[in-house]
Amino acid sequence: MITKAKGTNDIFGLEGKKIRYVERVFENIMHKYNAEYIKTPIFESSELFHRGVGETTDIVSKETYDFKDRGNRSITLRPEGTAGIVRSFIENKMYVDNNLSKLWYFGPMFRYERPQAGRYREFYQAGIEIIGSNSPMADVEAISIMVDFFKQLGLKGIKVNINSLGDFESRSIYLDALKKHFKSDINNMCLDCQTRYEKNPLRILDCKVDHNRDIMKNAPKLIDYLNEFSKQHFDEVIINLNELNIDYVINEKLVRGLDYYTHTVFEIEASIKGFGSQNVLGGGGRYDNLIQNLSGPDTPAVGFALGIERLILALDYEKCEFNIKEGIDAYIFGIGNLGINKSLFIAKKLRDNNYSCEIDMFNKNIKANFKQADKYKAAYVIIIGEDEIKNDYLTIKNNRTKDEYHIESSQIIAFFKDTKKEIQND
Ligand code: HAM
Repeated sequence: MITKAKGTNDIFGLEGKKIRYVERVFENIMHKYNAEYIKTPIFESSELFHRGVGETTDIVSKETYDFKDRGNRSITLRPEGTAGIVRSFIENKMYVDNNLSKLWYFGPMFRYERPQAGRYREFYQAGIEIIGSNSPMADVEAISIMVDFFKQLGLKGIKVNINSLGDFESRSIYLDALKKHFKSDINNMCLDCQTRYEKNPLRILDCKVDHNRDIMKNAPKLIDYLNEFSKQHFDEVIINLNELNIDYVINEKLVRGLDYYTHTVFEIEASIKGFGSQNVLGGGGRYDNLIQNLSGPDTPAVGFALGIERLILALDYEKCEFNIKEGIDAYIFGIGNLGINKSLFIAKKLRDNNYSCEIDMFNKNIKANFKQADKYKAAYVIIIGEDEIKNDYLTIKNNRTKDEYHIESSQIIAFFKDTKKEIQND
């Protein structure tokens, strides 16, 4: 037997319904915020992620799925959505017609990580990129969309962490201070931190190995190094979050794992007791330099992405209800060739009128057909036997109350319209 690749999931049955439900809720929220759907390719040229996400990030240096295609091009399965969307924004010159593009997406991403509950090699993200505005209002909107989404799903145990990485100038001054701070002790720190010290010192603050050491705890804080412009931007984000009554925590250690961020960064975590270690449900931030770095016009942007599998784990953990429609409107079976043929015709009529139904394709006996109807959670069972054919009527059984009706075949849709009302008034 050939089995699925490590860290991937087959999504079907109830899990499939849950993911579709979450996507529907996300799409509704996106509509409210005037965002448009975008789907970019699942693979892109490797250079996009090297330049976009950053060579020194864990994602690009350790986790990408890279391969050469048959034309010897370097290709990478997308580890995240932002770089591809920015590429598309530039390539399609979206900036020509609109000064603000709000683009939402939902799809699989790929990272070669050590799989565990909530961490996979193929996983789904839902996200939005708000491109074109440098206003703190856009940062606040991104955060409030995330919060709205969780609220809509009924998830209560969440915590929003925010921080500011400042602009390029603030960050450069801070990085010097950070390097000075770690210089004397860097050789006693983990090998990853030693590399980060040279290539990307900010990421030292994210270290899971050394995080309890005093030198970490006493590290200078980026927030103390923000210049006037960066400070004002962050202050306005805070003021507006307060205005909207969005709860948040300023987490001075939050630096995020991708290189493109400037100013506001945020993460939303599940703060549910006993929930596993993969508790960061989503994250994002402002990335004012990325579009220019990828050879586009100087355009500010902010966005976020959520991990759908983790979100569903959290919803399950909190026993949130998924609004999933189960069952079908009717199960139809015919007896004899004429009955079977007519069941196809009745099914088509129902489906043409937006009712869901299934027909017996196995010529089962009556008992087996009723069992099947139960399995499909059919509201009604329609029986087309010899007498029904001869006198052009249908026998319909309410599968819950077991009430039985006999109606002319031509009245099938009228019957469903009436009884549907009945069911809703039940
Ligand atoms: P990220 O923090 O790398 O950000 O990923 C966002 C979310 O995807 C994470 O918070 C997590 O829930 C989920 N996730 C990441 N890796 C895995 C995995 N291996 N298995 C399951 N879930 C995972 C980004 O990807 C940025 N593009 C977000 C962004 C959009 N920033 C600005 N715009």
